[in-house]
Amino acid sequence: MFFSKQHSWLDGLYVRSYAMKMGELHLPGLDLYMVNEPSLVKRVLVSEADAFPKSDLLGQALRPLLGDSIFTTHGEQWRQQRALMEPAFEAARVRHVYGHMQAAAQAMVARLSDRAQVSVAIDMEAEMTHVAADIILRTILSQPLEAGDATKVFEAFSRYQELAPKMVLPALFGLRWWRPWRGRAKSEAAAVEIRALLVKLIRPRYEAARAGDGAGGPVDLLSYLLAARDAQTGEGFSFEELVDQVAMLFLAGHETSASALSWALYLMAQIPDIQERMHLEAQAGLADASSDPSELRALVLCRNVFKETLRLFPPVGFLARQAAGACTMRDKTLKADATVVVSPWLIQRHRQLWARPDEFDPDRYESDSSDDHPTAQESTRSGYLPFGMGPRVCIGAAFALQEAALILASMAQHFVLTPVPDHVPRPVGRLTIRSGNGIWLRLRRRETMP
Ligand code: HEM
Repeated sequence: MFFSKQHSWLDGLYVRSYAMKMGELHLPGLDLYMVNEPSLVKRVLVSEADAFPKSDLLGQALRPLLGDSIFTTHGEQWRQQRALMEPAFEAARVRHVYGHMQAAAQAMVARLSDRAQVSVAIDMEAEMTHVAADIILRTILSQPLEAGDATKVFEAFSRYQELAPKMVLPALFGLRWWRPWRGRAKSEAAAVEIRALLVKLIRPRYEAARAGDGAGGPVDLLSYLLAARDAQTGEGFSFEELVDQVAMLFLAGHETSASALSWALYLMAQIPDIQERMHLEAQAGLADASSDPSELRALVLCRNVFKETLRLFPPVGFLARQAAGACTMRDKTLKADATVVVSPWLIQRHRQLWARPDEFDPDRYESDSSDDHPTAQESTRSGYLPFGMGPRVCIGAAFALQEAALILASMAQHFVLTPVPDHVPRPVGRLTIRSGNGIWLRLRRRETMP
């Protein structure tokens, strides 16, 4: 399967995978258990999280880039790093970077306005990757993507993202011996280049903060990370740790959002009625002069469109854990080190957890029927987890939701999206869930409303 298909773990799923409570796969060097049942999901991710630490499958492949960032660390080291990172992602701080997000959204509208002609098909994956990277660069480093070194960071990341899945997937398919040396060397070279560029961008800010000259500087995520102190020791991040965290935030923060935003636009383009309602909502809700993200609260449909997209196309399609010791689940005995996978992709399309599981219906969250959506009983049924659950839940969830509502509303406000005939994107599981053949749409600029 790995060699014949195009390196996508989605190809390893069967129809019955979407209805089972638990499944297993045994290959030489790999004992893998797939857990769908909500009580087991909660056990693995929440109540017994320490007994199921994050698997190192992804970590091994990503370490050259991400170093020892919170994405890959465990135990006490992770706990300390998470405590230092958390304040930067509190709701109040995320609100402060809204101005950066607005600037990136305006740049996106200007870029696309130049290209919006009904006869031209545009690859929205490339566009959404551009705007998501722009948002991350502006919110972390106060640098627009078009600024010299920021552009180089983006280009090196694009090369890295192309190569990294080739390093990760062999391990997932149990092919630990498979070593694509050339790809590996190239991805490691890209990682070295990214880190060198980040060092150049972060160093002056770090030195200024240490010398006590940080005040009056830019307000961005880096400024919060520079100010973070451990409650017990009073220590902050070392320079090396800071580079690790920024590299990780760049990758975790833009690859995921770019994937979800591209799928959301594709789904919007299929249903003109939803687009029209989103347009009216955006016209009424997005105030040109406002710099307060509370304006997004009124954009209920835009937010539900994103929520429903995250259900059908969760960017992080599986969460991999490792059993610390032998244990039992249902009628199965897992050995120590067995891989335990919780898949938002499977769970959020599960036949027993969702009514009309494959249907895109953003209005389902407005209904009172818990058959339509498990949100009312989310905590007990665990059928919706695009950001994960438990202690390792996504730290950037509030950031991502704020960014997505703004981008989708801006698109609906300024453009009409139409599908390209005969183009059906094919989901593939790589670093995130992407389309194997791009997401192509046509755009028409709406007349500017008075
Ligand atoms: C739609 C967008 C996003 C989705 C769907 C998403 C999803 C996830 C998921 C599922 C996890 C948990 C992985 C696991 O348990 O194995 C995670 C972790 C993480 N995410 Fe996100 N994410 C998104 C956006 C972001 C953004 C914008 C940032 C930062 C700017 C971010 C930073 C992180 C970090 C640092 C972690 C690791 C947390 C830890 O292990 O303590 N994510 N994300």
